[in-house]
Amino acid sequence: MPTTSSVNAKSVSLSLLFFLYFLVPNIDHAEGKFRAIHRQHSFPNPHAKRRNPKLSLWNNSHATFYGEADGSGTMGGACGYGDLKEQGYGLQTTALSKVMFKNGETCGACYEIKCFNDTKGCLPRQRSVIVTATNSCPPNHQQQSGGWCNQPREHFELAQPAFLGIARYEAGIVPVQYRRVPCKKKGGIKFTVNGSSDLTQVLVWNVGGAGDVESVWVKGEKNVKLWRKMKRKWGQRWETSGVVLVGESLSFRVKTSDGRTSTSMRVAPNNWRFGQTFQGTNFN
Ligand SMILES: *[C@@H]1O[C@H](CO)[C@@H](O)[C@H](O)[C@H]1NC(C)=O
Ligand SMILES: *[C@@H]1O[C@H](CO)[C@@H](O)[C@H](O)[C@H]1NC(C)=O
Ligand SMILES: *[C@@H]1O[C@H](CO)[C@@H](O)[C@H](O)[C@H]1NC(C)=O
Repeated sequence: MPTTSSVNAKSVSLSLLFFLYFLVPNIDHAEGKFRAIHRQHSFPNPHAKRRNPKLSLWNNSHATFYGEADGSGTMGGACGYGDLKEQGYGLQTTALSKVMFKNGETCGACYEIKCFNDTKGCLPRQRSVIVTATNSCPPNHQQQSGGWCNQPREHFELAQPAFLGIARYEAGIVPVQYRRVPCKKKGGIKFTVNGSSDLTQVLVWNVGGAGDVESVWVKGEKNVKLWRKMKRKWGQRWETSGVVLVGESLSFRVKTSDGRTSTSMRVAPNNWRFGQTFQGTNFN
């Protein structure tokens, strides 16, 4: 005759089994999609490996913060985005040190960051935040060896609200562990078109999946029928000159760092105007 406690133990372990059964395939699926990212950045962390070889590995670094509690001082930034709140990035954003920012190539990438190994500075319980890279944290040559953001340091300068999600204000700087994660964005990729008659500039934002755009192409319908590769001007601002796209319906193709491509056909009508924003197909 089983005692009550052994029955309870049995049902607890049964529900645990069910939980694992349903959970594990989901993890596999999500990780599989973004394996390309992690392959590029993989880093031998024996602890992570032993626990679950399929989960992406955590890197060690540090985090500080900038801007105010309401996010002011973090809008705009070296990626070329505008009002981050309006654009859906919110206050969960970060500036990246020089080696991570890579002259803007990493703009739009998403990271999961947790405070690590600092009982005074970290909030109790291991919490993490997910942030999008929207800015660069430049070296400070006033400081010894250029400060936290100089080469070769990997460093996050978080928007203040993101920092306060994992650490105490008074800590100022905390050790963290971080990893790349897929970006979850609402709606399509946004294209804000700017420029002048034969110079087309496009800000590409709200990109899901890997998040960091590696290449952008544009084409029209009548005169510019072939895809033209755009040049990265800075951050996520792209441009192409020497062709007139005014009066043409516009299509865009975007390739992210994981090698995936998303094509948005005829997202701008032929009467588009500079300053307008158009919505294309996003990565999931
Ligand atoms: C982790 O650190 C290694 C070595 O510094 C680096 O090459 C790699 O890009 C980092 N991973 C991520 C996700 O940034
Ligand atoms: C945690 O911090 C202590 C003191 O700063 C350091 O000596 C130790 O190596 C750290 N542990 C890990 C796992 O990073
Ligand atoms: C568009 O052009 C205006 C005027 O040159 C400029 O102030 C603005 O920052 C540009 N916006 C984008 C998204 O490129």
